[in-house]
Amino acid sequence: MRVAVACDHGGFPLKGVILETVQETGHEAIDLGAFSAESSDYPDFAQKLAQSILSGQAERGILICGSGIGACIAANKIKGIYAGVCHDTYSAHQGVEHDRMNVLCLGARIIGEELAREIVRAYLGAVFSQEERHLRRVNKVLAIEARGK
Ligand code: RB5
Repeated sequence: MRVAVACDHGGFPLKGVILETVQETGHEAIDLGAFSAESSDYPDFAQKLAQSILSGQAERGILICGSGIGACIAANKIKGIYAGVCHDTYSAHQGVEHDRMNVLCLGARIIGEELAREIVRAYLGAVFSQEERHLRRVNKVLAIEARGK
């Protein structure tokens, strides 16, 4: 799977570990920056990562900021992006299995490298379940998205 990875300055300290873990688990990592710890704005990277998924360049994304929150809010404003902050492995796989999450958001100021690695493995190892109840709920989310309210 092709996985886009992006961060702001807050997420930058964790980006290398995330890229490494994506590759170690047999996936292709697409590094969308930031390329330094210089101050930057998370919405710019959320948008860049979303475009990568929506264009088909990447199938999933991992977005890192200081807390994971700003990046997640920004990403979820974009149609077709279903982002979640996951700082535990259960949420990281259940978010994909039940909710068809396609962007994992992490806070580099919240979790350490080893937990981040495990979360990324759980996220990338998960697939959407396709069970009727999950499809029904995801379709309701899509209806909310289409209505915009
Ligand atoms: C940057 O200082 C920080 O606000 C940002 O990385 C993120 O944590 C926002 O949610």
